[in-house]
Amino acid sequence: MLRYLTAGESHGRALVAIVEGVPAGLYLTREHIDRDLARRQSGYGRGRRMQIEQDRVEILSGVRFGYTLGSPIALVVENRDWKNWADRMTPEPVDGQGGGRIPQGERVTRPRPGHADLVGALKYGHQDLRNVLERASARETTMRVAVGAVAKRLLDEFGIAVRGHVLRVGTVTADVAGLGYDELFQRAEQSEMRCADPEATEAMKALVDQARQAGDSLGGVFEVVVTGVPPGLGSYVHWDRKLDGRLARALMSIQAVKGVEVGLGFGTAERFGSQVHDEIAYRPYPGTPPGPGDFQGPDRPGFYRKTNRAGGFEGGMTTGEAIVVRAALKPISTLYKPLGSVDFYTKEPFQASIERSDTCAVPAAAVIGEAVVAIEIASAFLEKFGGDSLNEVRRNYLGYVQALREV
Ligand SMILES: Cc1cc2nc3c(=O)[nH]c(=O)nc-3n(C[C@H](O)[C@H](O)[C@H](O)COP(=O)(O)O)c2cc1C
Repeated sequence: MLRYLTAGESHGRALVAIVEGVPAGLYLTREHIDRDLARRQSGYGRGRRMQIEQDRVEILSGVRFGYTLGSPIALVVENRDWKNWADRMTPEPVDGQGGGRIPQGERVTRPRPGHADLVGALKYGHQDLRNVLERASARETTMRVAVGAVAKRLLDEFGIAVRGHVLRVGTVTADVAGLGYDELFQRAEQSEMRCADPEATEAMKALVDQARQAGDSLGGVFEVVVTGVPPGLGSYVHWDRKLDGRLARALMSIQAVKGVEVGLGFGTAERFGSQVHDEIAYRPYPGTPPGPGDFQGPDRPGFYRKTNRAGGFEGGMTTGEAIVVRAALKPISTLYKPLGSVDFYTKEPFQASIERSDTCAVPAAAVIGEAVVAIEIASAFLEKFGGDSLNEVRRNYLGYVQALREV
């Protein structure tokens, strides 16, 4: 299985991650990771911070001459803004400040509505709300995207692609009916809103402008689609092995995500069963050798579903159809139009004002969604086919693909 930890504050020196469980022999370069870091930073509606940072990863361990060693992979992304924050974020004790506590006048004492500031300070006993907001910030997702890029690299070896796009921003919904996945994602990649519908892209941008001018913010919905997945990842035998549940948790853990759907999701509740469940059919296998091709495209062989309303899951396991999950983001919490709050110390009411913030982060969230989904799929993939080297994983995978043909 794949496991990872991240650390780092938004204005600290750097963000770090350690990934454990990646088999030896996987081709992995910093370009694979930097590409997704740049995608996370793109998108209409981001604030000035994204222009400052331009993230680049450094691979500190676990990779030699471009190939993974099977040992833990350590990744670092420096915060380029660190030099402006070193005095406020230093890990060193501050002389004469009573055990290093920051002077009262320099503390953040005004909790912002919609953020972790207030509860985090109450829970951890912090005197300075900065101690909370630095880690609660979505800057943390940089390392989830970095780890996700490693997971994607592994999945790519087996023809599995994890791609995300924006379906909705505020009241504007994209029309992507009839688009094949390749065309859909090609279009989304070219859109400033990561949206496959050019008209909706323009309408979303206009809405973001409108929100920005009004000092307001916007949320929306992104979708992640995983293609090329074999049936049988995850399991029905125990609740915490159900892969749809693991994906829901991973998506819900992204800052500002307030709802997750699998397949038709909430839409299943209003339909009759005959309009929800996917009929099963079978297509004979071709003469080609077994491999990732067995799980590609709408005409792939073996058991298949005539529709994919279930979004690629039955019983917590992948069915072999594309995995389709969606997540809804609440609007960015920090508003130029201030919201009421109460000072942590004086208990006096005030209007929360801000320095800089995104207006809409849904395009970035789609990239983060890809990452967390890729990590869970890669982890489930290694649970099923795991080996110490990529060749061993490949042998295990091909053995299973052959067995599916012999059913
Ligand atoms: C990619 C991304 C960027 C974000 N940028 C900002 C931001 O610039 N300002 C802000 O106030 N909130 C931002 N957020 C949202 C906050 O992090 C979020 O509102 C906060 O974590 C509280 O939400 P929660 O209760 O869901 O954790 C961003 C979220 C994401 C996913």
